[in-house]
Amino acid sequence: FPEEKIRNFSIIAHVDHGKSTLADRILQICGHEVDRKQTLDTLDVERERGITVKSVVASVKHTVGGEDFLLNLIDTPGHVDFSWEVQRSLTACEGVLLVVDASQGVQAQTMANFYVAFELGLAVIPVLNKVDLPHADVDKTMMELNQMFDIEFEECLSISAKSGKGVTEVLDQIVRNIPPPKPIDVSGGALWCFDASVGGHSGRINYVKNIGRVPILPGDRFFPCNDKSDLMSIKDVGRCFPDLQADPEGLLPGQIGYFSTLKAKSRVTGKVLVTDEKSGAKLTEDKSLPFNQLKNSTPSVYASFFPHTDNKGRIKEFEKSVDSLILNDPAVTSTRTSSPAFGSGLRLGFLGQLHLEVFSQRLRDDFETDVIVTSPSTSFRVDADDPSVFEFEVAEEFVPKNFVKEYQEMYSLLTVISPVEYSPVILKAVEERRGSYLSSEEIGDGRLIFKYEIPHSETIRNFHGVLKGATSGFGSFELEELDWRPAELVVLSISINSKIVPELQMITHKHSAEALGRKLTKEFADLLPMQDHKAAICAHITAEPDRQRGFWGSAFGTKSPNFKREDTTRSKANKKIDLQRRQKKIKAEKERLEKLRQIGNVKVPKDAITSLFSLI
Ligand code: GTP
Repeated sequence: FPEEKIRNFSIIAHVDHGKSTLADRILQICGHEVDRKQTLDTLDVERERGITVKSVVASVKHTVGGEDFLLNLIDTPGHVDFSWEVQRSLTACEGVLLVVDASQGVQAQTMANFYVAFELGLAVIPVLNKVDLPHADVDKTMMELNQMFDIEFEECLSISAKSGKGVTEVLDQIVRNIPPPKPIDVSGGALWCFDASVGGHSGRINYVKNIGRVPILPGDRFFPCNDKSDLMSIKDVGRCFPDLQADPEGLLPGQIGYFSTLKAKSRVTGKVLVTDEKSGAKLTEDKSLPFNQLKNSTPSVYASFFPHTDNKGRIKEFEKSVDSLILNDPAVTSTRTSSPAFGSGLRLGFLGQLHLEVFSQRLRDDFETDVIVTSPSTSFRVDADDPSVFEFEVAEEFVPKNFVKEYQEMYSLLTVISPVEYSPVILKAVEERRGSYLSSEEIGDGRLIFKYEIPHSETIRNFHGVLKGATSGFGSFELEELDWRPAELVVLSISINSKIVPELQMITHKHSAEALGRKLTKEFADLLPMQDHKAAICAHITAEPDRQRGFWGSAFGTKSPNFKREDTTRSKANKKIDLQRRQKKIKAEKERLEKLRQIGNVKVPKDAITSLFSLI
């Protein structure tokens, strides 16, 4: 396919508005076999949770007016935590399908994604989905698109991705309204690498767009622009259908596809690669290229990861697993850390709580690595005399108050789109988290865009779930960093039978600490399985670490998990259990115990602590 017959586009939308269903329908109409729902959501975590977390490329052929066109489609995630993944994918495209569920209208992520596409100068095709639903309101949704993004009514397409109605028209519009890729002026080969993953034999798959004027062939040698240290030799090159298909004729100018290298060296995701010729080195100076506008991602939630205590010696293997996953999810930041309780580990930064949960699950699913994950935390700042200002994230780094001029925390701008009747419950949820109302603006038919300011640390634990619940699923939200403000910080610890649980130690604001401590003890006690003995779970608040005992303070919020009363009447029947059954029972008990950790004589299932954070 020559460049003028290629169209590169992404499907963007708010979560659950139907991107993956539309991608399935497009694949089907273009002659691909779609044997199951959501063909492009291949990860276990995507299938389990029913959400897309990774962008996927699929190339299809479509015929308009007797001419064949190659459409390279990138299906993107919808949840706010994966917006950086969306941004990277869009840099490889010339246009987007902006999908809006006509029964729900424009939502917070519709707005965020539209502005990313708009800033990159991409052609936008508005697609109103789910018109088969009885409560779909096409006119109202078109009005919102017109009012908010200046989109004309006649530009909007109405479809049902579920039934396929209107989808062929979408394909025709892609060909008509999205411009073909324009190669940049460079003498050698040039590739834009927007994603990567680990391939076979620890090699690497790089997802790329050929942005130069010559085909990319097996055997070509490339280096990341302005960084000649890492010369790569291309093994296979080809396209994604979405399964990788090597093509000996290579990847033609304008096409999106992949190339594999034998060895995974340093990360090149997010970089322009140029052929082994000096001429290409000034490529990234061209400010008009979309990838130059790709902003760095900034983590907003941190957690420490340690190999499970049974695997303490396996830190190297653990680091390798994390590195492989980061190659595929470069928004995650990583630094080495260590803890007296868990030994060596990694402190990882994520774009949100869901991002953290998905990463932990992928680590377990893909690499069979059992991990301990500490409480999610965010960055705080200390203004001290010496050294002046620095950031910290974990209780272990907490600086006692008498060495500090001021503690500071980040405030965020919270934008919520919701029907007006939910405004009191949203305000309550915001105020309970020390936030306050700023402004509101009507977008028609009883829906408003509300703005609030809220401390960032108050939004990292299940805030999404709370807002969804408070607005019966009708509210959607976006967070943006505002500024640092003074804060009164303390350390909150949870103990079981007087033993501190290291994963549950966190820095929090003085005014939130008690309520959070009470909630943690209650939920934690309820999550624990039946115990053999009585036990005490307590919360403690400290402003100063105690030299002898670490971060302790007087205990409050004491709870006890359920426990068995001792059975004094051993049944005779038990004695008659034959040997085989007894052995089976002992084996099952051993397996059950292996899945538990003992803290202060109490059995704690491995996933109890992770589950706890999705409840509070
Ligand atoms: P994320 O990847 O998690 O952001 O979701 P998504 O935007 O890919 O949405 P998905 O395709 O998973 O669809 C969400 C739900 O809407 C699924 O239950 C679909 O079956 C349903 N759905 C999608 N399109 C239509 C449609 O045209 N009509 C109806 N009635 N339901 C649809």
